[in-house]
Amino acid sequence: MSRTKILWIVWVLLTLTAGGYAAAVILEGGNRDFLLIGRTTDGHHQIELSCDACHTSAFGGEDDLQKACVNCHGAELKTANDSHPKSKFTNPRNADRVAKLDARYCVTCHREHKPDITNAMAVTMPDDYCFLCHEDIAKDRPSHAGLPFDGCAAAGCHNFHDNRALYEDFLEKHIGADQHLPVQKVALKIWTAPETDAKPAKPLTAAAMDAPSYKAEDPKIVTAWAKTAHAASGVNCSGCHTKRTDPDNGIERPGMAVCAACHKDQQATFVEGKHGMRLREGLFVSAKSSFGLFDATPMTPMTPDAARVPMKADAHGTAIGCETCHGAHGYDAAKAQVDACMGCHDDAHTKAYPDSPHAAAWQVEAQGLAPKGTGVSCATCHLPRVQHKNSYGEERVFVTHNQNDNLRPNEKMVRGVCLDCHGLEFTLDALADPALIANNFKGQPSRHVESIDWVAARLKKRGKAQ
Ligand code: HEC
Ligand code: HEC
Ligand code: HEC
Ligand code: HEC
Ligand code: HEC
Ligand code: HEC
Ligand code: HEC
Ligand code: HEC
Ligand code: HEC
Ligand code: HEC
Repeated sequence: MSRTKILWIVWVLLTLTAGGYAAAVILEGGNRDFLLIGRTTDGHHQIELSCDACHTSAFGGEDDLQKACVNCHGAELKTANDSHPKSKFTNPRNADRVAKLDARYCVTCHREHKPDITNAMAVTMPDDYCFLCHEDIAKDRPSHAGLPFDGCAAAGCHNFHDNRALYEDFLEKHIGADQHLPVQKVALKIWTAPETDAKPAKPLTAAAMDAPSYKAEDPKIVTAWAKTAHAASGVNCSGCHTKRTDPDNGIERPGMAVCAACHKDQQATFVEGKHGMRLREGLFVSAKSSFGLFDATPMTPMTPDAARVPMKADAHGTAIGCETCHGAHGYDAAKAQVDACMGCHDDAHTKAYPDSPHAAAWQVEAQGLAPKGTGVSCATCHLPRVQHKNSYGEERVFVTHNQNDNLRPNEKMVRGVCLDCHGLEFTLDALADPALIANNFKGQPSRHVESIDWVAARLKKRGKAQ
């Protein structure tokens, strides 16, 4: 059967299900698992049963798939200053290159359900494809003569999309600064206190614990709450435990939507990464309704048992929500930044963290023996603080909750994290060294990224020529 034909049949089945008893029977009670035509990529496995997230129609083909990709990833590629945006390839000047490889479409390089040809970051191209378009590079750049065809993006020199930490002028700007770092030279990033978008309508006092059924029932809860920024800001029991639209009705276990009413940016970034992606609005999965009919239900939160990266067995059932890392009533920075993470994650890199120089610096800071910002926790690298304009148009610092935002390719971590404390050459070398990542950065890099030397040589030559 042809591809379009399979897709068409699948689509008809799925569409019929809205009112379709027949389809429900065919679909074995509404479980779509058996429809999956091949293992999905690591980036999308969590949402693989939300077929319609990508297949917005059966007939649109590439163009409709493209819209879905851009809908979820467009903003991120734009922020990354994508080096190869579609506009480069709709330019008639580059028509010869498009004829070799149609880089206008995401699916040319990122196919789905094709495990046999899928490499890291869901790339379904052989590693030497840069040469299809840049085979003449050595003419302009003698330094590139004789380099291996598959080396452009593998050696810490280039990426296809995000080259913000790798551009020549960026390298030039950072040559030589603090390559081998003595502790004293750590540059401090001075942050203002964490601020939120929250604007509680009416500041309440601790005395006014007013939620009908939650009045000081449990002294432990009250004590924990009283120590938090919530209590200090007048976010009372009722702030979370009553419906805003219906204050007389209590909410026994407030969920993400309650937190999101005051912490919009944290929630919006949370649902973009792998912790929260299943809670993104509009994602549905099939399930059996009470009548045995096929039904669409919103996705449930991610749990560690469904992960593709190693997880601790005793964490398997824990659904990830806001209160997983933050207590519902108490706030513990050590728990949020390290302990919670280590309670679930179980890979070599995570397990090596407590023994790393970064963890040592974090301990010293936690004991109050070093200034704030000198330590490095899991969150320093994976949930970094970023500056942005909040929804009220004010410049704010907040904690991004999308831990995939700077994860891959790992040079994304250079500008927003490592350069706060290390030199560029040292950082690029460290990130190009898989063994160093596996032991959570204990020791000096054993790899060297040469591009910075080429830039230095060019600078020298230019200096001589003047
Ligand atoms: C994250 C996006 C995404 C999700 C979710 C997704 N697909 Fe796909 N699917 C794709 C892409 C991209 C292609 C095109 C692959 C290619 O060109 O090789 C595709 C191709 C297909 C094809 C065509 C067969 C082929 O060999 O190309 C079928 C059938 C299909 N998908 C069914 C499904 C079903 C059923 C689901 C849900 C159970 C699903 N897909 C979920 C992205 C997705
Ligand atoms: C419903 C939103 C959604 C849609 C639609 C979607 N993606 Fe994704 N994609 C995600 C999320 C969430 C992740 C995981 C987090 C991350 O890596 O940024 C991801 C991961 C990826 C990754 C892997 C990143 C990595 O580091 O492993 C690639 C590549 C990618 N998507 C490309 C595509 C392409 C191409 C399409 C269209 C066929 C597409 N996506 C459709 C949400 C989406
Ligand atoms: C010519 C091949 C090619 C095309 C076309 C392409 N990509 Fe990629 N993509 C890559 C490669 C290679 C990587 C690995 C990281 C890198 O080199 O930038 C990647 C990585 C990614 C990532 C994860 C890393 C990151 O920088 O965020 C996402 C998300 C992504 N691509 C989305 C898309 C989307 C969406 C489109 C279409 C608008 C697209 N890609 C088109 C080759 C391609
Ligand atoms: C489908 C063709 C195509 C492929 C494949 C391709 N490029 Fe390009 N690349 C272009 C075009 C077009 C430009 C625009 C400048 C030019 O005309 O050379 C460009 C520009 C660049 C630049 C200049 C930086 C900039 O922002 O202008 C670099 C560096 C680069 N590509 C590296 C790569 C690497 C590394 C790969 C493989 C991961 C790759 N390219 C794959 C077509 C391609
Ligand atoms: C920042 C939001 C927030 C505030 C403020 C808050 N709660 Fe809660 N509360 C929650 C969440 C979230 C849960 C659900 C926790 C869970 O599901 O594990 C919860 C659960 C509870 C429970 C049920 C606990 C259980 O384990 O059965 C009680 C009782 C409670 N809260 C009382 C209070 C009291 C009393 C106050 C005021 C002193 C208060 N809460 C203030 C968010 C809040
Ligand atoms: C009615 C508004 C409101 C709601 C609802 C709310 N918060 Fe807050 N939250 C605030 C305010 C105000 C602050 C203090 C901001 C500041 O100090 O800049 C805060 C601070 C925080 C902090 C930082 C704590 C600290 O001590 O530094 C965390 C973490 C937090 N909230 C998580 C949550 C979670 C999780 C939920 C949902 C269970 C939630 N909040 C619900 C308003 C709210
Ligand atoms: C994976 C663990 C994790 C989850 C899940 C999580 N957070 Fe956080 N959050 C953190 C960490 C770690 C920090 C503090 C980082 C720091 O101090 O640098 C933080 C800080 C915060 C802060 C205070 C800093 C700021 O940005 O203003 C708020 C508010 C907050 N989180 C809200 C939320 C909300 C709302 C959710 C659910 C949508 C949530 N968090 C889910 C780990 C988490
Ligand atoms: C309740 C368990 C749990 C907690 C707590 C937790 N995680 Fe995760 N984490 C997960 C799961 C599940 C995934 C998704 C893995 C997958 O899809 O394969 C994930 C994904 C990730 C990823 C992306 C991995 C990848 O390959 O794309 C990173 C990075 C990460 N977590 C870091 C952290 C950090 C840092 C903390 C603490 C601030 C933390 N996690 C807390 C369960 C947890
Ligand atoms: C100094 C920064 C830094 C610190 C500290 C750090 N990480 Fe990482 N982490 C990275 C980098 C860089 C990667 C690799 C990204 C890549 O190349 O794929 C990574 C990868 C990961 C992954 C993905 C692993 C995989 O196989 O896909 C997880 C999960 C993770 N880290 C969790 C944690 C946890 C949990 C902690 C704290 C115990 C932590 N990290 C501490 C920088 C850091
Ligand atoms: C807040 C500051 C800070 C940030 C951010 C930071 N580091 Fe570090 N790093 C340190 C400190 C402090 C040490 C310990 C130095 C010492 O003991 O001499 C260190 C040590 C290291 C070492 C070990 C050096 C050795 O000889 O043992 C490596 C490798 C390293 N960092 C890489 C990175 C990378 C890669 C990043 C970004 C992903 C990063 N660091 C982010 C402060 C930081």
